[in-house]
Amino acid sequence: MERMRKTATYLSCEQVYKVWCTDPHLIAVLDIRPKEMFLAAHIPGAISVSPQELSGELDRLGEKLAVIVSLETEAVAEDVVDRENVVLMSHCHQWLEMNHPVAGDGLKTTLLEFKRREKSMVNRTSDEKTSGSASRVLLENGTIFHQLFEAESSTYTYIIADRASKEAAIIDPVIETVDRDLKLIEELGLNLVYVLDTHIHADHITGASEIRKRTGAKTAVSKLAGVSCVDTGLEDGQELKLGTKTIRAISTPGHTDTCMTFAFEGMVFTGDALLIRGCGRTDFQQGSSDTLFESVREKLFTLPDDTVVYPGHDYRGLTSSTIGLEKAFNPRLGVKNSREDFKRIMSELKLAHPKKIQEAVPANLACGQTRDNRVLHPQIVDGIPEISCEDLLRHLSDAKAGRIQLIDVRRPDEFNNELGHVPGARLVTLGPELTEFLKNSDRDQEIVFLCRSGGRSGSATAESIQLGYKKTINMVGGMIRWNEKKFEVERK
Ligand SMILES: [Fe+2]
Repeated sequence: MERMRKTATYLSCEQVYKVWCTDPHLIAVLDIRPKEMFLAAHIPGAISVSPQELSGELDRLGEKLAVIVSLETEAVAEDVVDRENVVLMSHCHQWLEMNHPVAGDGLKTTLLEFKRREKSMVNRTSDEKTSGSASRVLLENGTIFHQLFEAESSTYTYIIADRASKEAAIIDPVIETVDRDLKLIEELGLNLVYVLDTHIHADHITGASEIRKRTGAKTAVSKLAGVSCVDTGLEDGQELKLGTKTIRAISTPGHTDTCMTFAFEGMVFTGDALLIRGCGRTDFQQGSSDTLFESVREKLFTLPDDTVVYPGHDYRGLTSSTIGLEKAFNPRLGVKNSREDFKRIMSELKLAHPKKIQEAVPANLACGQTRDNRVLHPQIVDGIPEISCEDLLRHLSDAKAGRIQLIDVRRPDEFNNELGHVPGARLVTLGPELTEFLKNSDRDQEIVFLCRSGGRSGSATAESIQLGYKKTINMVGGMIRWNEKKFEVERK
C-alpha cells in the first residue's frame, strides 16, 4: 500500500503571535532568513540559524515546539516534514505589517518611514532633505534597540545601547521578566550601565533592584520620587552617557509627579505620559490633567515630528508611534483639542484602580524590593495566592538556592509516576503528614505547593494560611500542566 504523503504544518503570523504572547519561552523561533534581515527586525527571542545549521538546531531542541521563519517555506517544508514539533510560519512579512513587537538593531518604524521618505525626496525643500538624512544617520549610527513585552501588565521594557562601546540601559523592567531581559542582554554581549524607571509604577513592580543586584548597573528615577535606595535621582534635562551617545531625561509630570521621558537617538521613551493614541490616567499618585497637558504639548510635541514614540504600555498590540502622528491623531492630547477638552475627557474616564497598586507603589518606592523580600509575586484568586507553571519555572534556581521551598502534597506512589515531580520538590502528603509539617515549620518561609492538577495543593495552601503562613502559594494546573508544557521533571 502506498504510504500517505505527509505535509508540513503551517501557522499564520497571528497564530504564532498568540502562542508567543502567552509565553515566548514555550516555543523556539528559528529564523533562517538572511542574517542582515534578521539583524534589522525579528521576532523577539528568535534565533538566527543558517539553513545548513537548521537540522542540527532542531535535533538540539528535542521536544520543544520549533517555529521556523523563512522566506521560502516550501523549500524548507521538504526537510522538516518528518519531524514532529516543527511548524512553519507562513507569510512572515505580515508580522511587521501587523505591528507586532519586533527586536532588532534597525528601527522598524524609522526604516519604513525612511524608505517612504527616500521615494518622495524629489521636489522637497533643502530643509526637509536635511531631516531626511537625519533618519539615515539614525539607521547607521550603531544604536542597538530592543522592545520587550510583559503580558500581565501590558508593559513595554526597552533595551538601548551604543553598539561601539556596548554600553546599555534598560528602561522600565518588570520584576517577573528580569531573567528574560538579562538573558537577552547577555546574548547581545552588552554591558548594562543604567536601569531607568520612567516613574513610580502602580501596575507592576520594577525589576530595578533585582537587576542592580545581579549586574551592578546603576538605578535611576526622578529625584522628585524621593526614593532613597536609588543610585541617581534624575532632574529635568539631566544627561546620562552610553559610550558617546546621550540619554536625556525630560521631566513630563501629570500622570504622576515623578514622570520622566527618556530621549535617545531620535526616540522618546514616554512611560505613561504619552501613550499611542492615549495617555496615562491622572487621577492618582499626584496626577494632574492640567500638568500632563502642559508636559505633552509644551515638551513632547515640540520635538521633531519624526521622533519615534515608544510608550510604557499598549493594550492593543501597537508598538510605536511618532510625535507627528500623536499630534495629529491622539484623541486626548492631539493639537485639535483644547486644555479644557482634555481635562473634561480625563475627568470622565472613571477607571478602576490597578489591581497591583497596593503592592506595587510601596515596592517601587523601595526600588522594587517588596517589603517582605518575596521571590514570587502571586495573584490572589478566591483568597488563595496562585502562580503559573511558567512563573515557577523561572524561579527554579531560587528553589535550588533554598529561597523558596517546593512541597509536593501527592501520595508517595504518585511522586515518581509517569508525571514525575518538579526538580527539587519534597514530598509531604496532604493529610496528617502535611499538618504535622506545617505545625513545625517556619511560618515566614516562602512555599509553593504542588500536586497532580492543582486541587490538593490549593487545599494545602488554604490550610497553611489558616495556620498563619504568610507566603504560601498554589501552583495552578499541577504536574499535569507542568508536563503539558514539557518542563523538566524528576522521577527518582
Ligand atoms: Fe503608570
